[in-house]
Amino acid sequence: MNIYAHRGNSGFFPENTMYAFKKSLDLDICGIELDVQKTKDGILVVHHDETLGRVFDGKGYIKKLTFDQLVDSNLNNDELISRDDCKIPTLEEVLELIKPTNLTINIEIKNNKVRYKGIEEDIINLVKNHNMEERVLISSFNYRSLKRIFRLDPTIKTAYLVGAFTFKHKSLKKVLKRCKECNCTYIHPSYDVVNKELVTEAHKKGISVQVYTVNSITIMKKLIKLKVDGVFTNYPKIINTIVNENL
Ligand code: G3P
Repeated sequence: MNIYAHRGNSGFFPENTMYAFKKSLDLDICGIELDVQKTKDGILVVHHDETLGRVFDGKGYIKKLTFDQLVDSNLNNDELISRDDCKIPTLEEVLELIKPTNLTINIEIKNNKVRYKGIEEDIINLVKNHNMEERVLISSFNYRSLKRIFRLDPTIKTAYLVGAFTFKHKSLKKVLKRCKECNCTYIHPSYDVVNKELVTEAHKKGISVQVYTVNSITIMKKLIKLKVDGVFTNYPKIINTIVNENL
């Protein structure tokens, strides 16, 4: 079972910060998951939301701020505000932290609400500059983004993110067809849309199933029975224990 620390070890440490990623390094897991946005001056940064405000102070869209403006933002958490590793990190900083480990990095491209021009190419170039092509897995809810990655470099592993909203308009057959069109190694469904049919049909097509975001023991036990291939969790240590007890 592949366990990923979702936005770093984010159940206990501030999501998508170097602090949360450092706290993932000695866990018995397969990798970390993070989200990538792009600043006005073209720097790839690790942050879940398209805007400031929820995790970091300030307001406005990341795409409208320069990196220098962004690093002035502080965490909305008074106790941790003075830590240097609790700023918005660049993707490059995280790659450098993870490179000497055995961990995989699941880079989620946030390209669904804001269309960051050229973000796929920027990510691939950065990953290649660090010789980390084999260490990353790129995911997106935007399947056009995944197609672009396939065109840019068919050897990079990708995952199609899907949720309940995806299945409102599309059948499982169509969703899996999209995975194949993009050459995705994985489908990453939300835990509430996973069932036996999804796992069986994906596996028949050679697509692995990794589920987000699993923070409940009951749900984890159900997913183990369904034989999913991996999970994203804010509590990797706890989920790891459940896996070891139930496999
Ligand atoms: O990549 C898995 C999961 O992070 C997707 O959902 O909303 O956290 O980006 P979200």
